[in-house]
Amino acid sequence: MKKFLLAPSVLAADFGHLSRDLEMINNTEADWLHVDIMDGRFVPNISFGQNIVSVMKKHCQLPLDVHLMIVDPERYVDSFIEAGAEHITFHFEATNHAHRLIHHLKSSGVKAGVALNPQTSVDLLDDILEDIDIVCLMSVNPGFGGQKFIYRTLHKIKALKDKIIERNLKTLIEIDGGVGLQNAESILEAGADVLVAGSSVFKSENPTETVSRFKAIQIANYDI
Ligand code: DX5
Ligand code: ZN
Repeated sequence: MKKFLLAPSVLAADFGHLSRDLEMINNTEADWLHVDIMDGRFVPNISFGQNIVSVMKKHCQLPLDVHLMIVDPERYVDSFIEAGAEHITFHFEATNHAHRLIHHLKSSGVKAGVALNPQTSVDLLDDILEDIDIVCLMSVNPGFGGQKFIYRTLHKIKALKDKIIERNLKTLIEIDGGVGLQNAESILEAGADVLVAGSSVFKSENPTETVSRFKAIQIANYDI
C-alpha cells in the first residue's frame, strides 16, 4: 500500500490565532507544515518572513517545509534555516545556480527542494535530479492560496515519477496548489508522495477530521 505525506499549508491558517492553529495541527496525523514565503517580486503577493517562521517553529512540532517563492533565494536560505526550516524548497526559475544552492542546502543539514512553476518542464531537472530531495510541482500559479488545480500537472507527475523510478532515486514528489479530498486520489495515483493542502484543510469545517480523511486515502501502489 502506498504511503504518502500530508503537509497542511499554514498560509490558509488564521494568523490572528496562529499558535492555536499550529497546536491543532500538532494533534493531527499531518506530517509536515508547509510554509509559503512570498516576496512580492517572484510572485505578486507578500506573505511573511523569518521572524514569523521562528514563531511557527516554537509552536509547531512538525518539520517546517519552507517554500521560498522569492528571487535570489541564495541570499536568504541561511536565515530561514536559522529560523527553523527543516526543508528548503526554492524555485528553479528564481536562480541561475540551482546545483550550487542544492549542495549548499544539503551541506547545511536541511533537505533540498526544487519547485517548478506549471509551465516549467520536469526535463529541466535531468542533470540535477540525483541531488534533489524533494521536487515540488506547482499545480497552480504560485502566489495565492485557494486556486484551482491545473490538471495538466498529472502528466508532469507521471513523467517525473518515471525518471525517479528509472534511476532508482528516493526523490519525493510534492504537489502544491488546489489539492483537496476530491482530487487527492488521482494525484497520488499519478505518483505524488507529498500533498500540500492549504484551504482544503484550514478552511474546512473540521480541519482535524479533514486531515484524517486525507490520511485515510488508500492507493494500491508502490511504497515510498
Ligand atoms: C501557492 C502556495 C501554496 C498554497 C496552497 O502559491 O505555494 O502552498 O498555500 O494553498 P491551497 O491548498 O489553498 O491551494
Ligand atoms: Zn507552497
